[in-house]
Amino acid sequence: MIKDYRSDFPILKRQIHGKRLAYLDSAGTSQVSKFVLDAVYDFETNHRANVHRGVHTLSEEASEMYEAARLKVSKFIGAVIPSEIVFTSGATESINIAAFSWGVHNLKKDDIVLVSEIEHHSNFVPWQEVCRMTGSQIKYIPIDNNGDLDIKNTNVDWSKVKLVAFTQVSNVIGRVNEVKDIAKNIKKAVGENQMPKILVDGSQAVSHLPVNVQSFGIDFYAFSGHKMYGPMGIGVLWIKRDIFKELRPVKFGGGMINEATYEKSTFAQMPEFLEAGTPNVSGAVGLGFACDYINQIGIENIIKHDTILMDCALNKLREDKDIIIYGSPNSSLIAFNVKNIPSHDLASVLDTCGVAVRSGHHCVMPWHKKQDVTTTARLSFGIYSDFSDIDQLILGISKAKGIFL
Ligand code: ALA
Repeated sequence: MIKDYRSDFPILKRQIHGKRLAYLDSAGTSQVSKFVLDAVYDFETNHRANVHRGVHTLSEEASEMYEAARLKVSKFIGAVIPSEIVFTSGATESINIAAFSWGVHNLKKDDIVLVSEIEHHSNFVPWQEVCRMTGSQIKYIPIDNNGDLDIKNTNVDWSKVKLVAFTQVSNVIGRVNEVKDIAKNIKKAVGENQMPKILVDGSQAVSHLPVNVQSFGIDFYAFSGHKMYGPMGIGVLWIKRDIFKELRPVKFGGGMINEATYEKSTFAQMPEFLEAGTPNVSGAVGLGFACDYINQIGIENIIKHDTILMDCALNKLREDKDIIIYGSPNSSLIAFNVKNIPSHDLASVLDTCGVAVRSGHHCVMPWHKKQDVTTTARLSFGIYSDFSDIDQLILGISKAKGIFL
């Protein structure tokens, strides 16, 4: 048995092509909970103003709500202090900020940036660009058949590795990377050499697994609000405070200066240092409430929910010999193909059955090329997912096979 959270999500009342909506694309974007929508509505209707820029009542209220959201997020991921939390537009911007605030100014010619070979484009394209600009080299950590990072067989000169970036949960094969263990293995591989900085992309993990950035032993942690029942256009970059002194701003303008003259300007402290311009205040407020929502459910209950649904879906998909499952998924999403049915065709037929799955390369093109597949279909669960979603998916797959095979 699993608990029913569907009624917390107003959009799930919709019908698609006259059918009940089976939303199985939460890894693309989760739906937003009513609790978050109410908080955003309250901010926009009762407190909306710019932050840190006025002494009038609304501006002070908005500033308090913005900073309260930062505090909630910092507690949610176990940061030491709230100023380690930088609000961004999403994980992509978070990783770009790490790359251009820290990477460009600290990497040198012949340094190595090490990235797993199953990263989302957001976690290697910015590093490719930083390497081009600095003369550093990008190298890749291989993935074994299950989808685990194979640090031991990473053929690299560890003395030159200055940054390691990897995802906590793969957005393609749904495999969990145990961050703490990987950080320890990196330390072992590095030996006497100086430990590289570690960046973790938590986009697919933060609403499914416990996160404590301090215990992970890492330096940067990036994630998006829209994959954790929060608003779109808001995300977070956590930066360990020990490396604040190694950062440079990436955007310049209002909100990030200490003092400006016609000749030169000095910059504010973190996190304003990296938050030039008017921030997405309602997004941040909503994100704070998304953290509250997840806390109310309890991450242990979320893990139970995911585990039950994953077991059910994997068992049903494995009964069909025409279905190929990629890797050994153990989180909340599964990439698969039905032999001889292109994933976009499959997803289109599923849509006619009210089932939403993602199809394509999921922004992980090199890994798909390495598997010799152009695209895969991907189902992914959220807290509102249930057994009926899986039944609807399986029926939809039968319908597609009837049409194409
Ligand atoms: N990164 C999102 C996904 O994997 C968009 O679908």
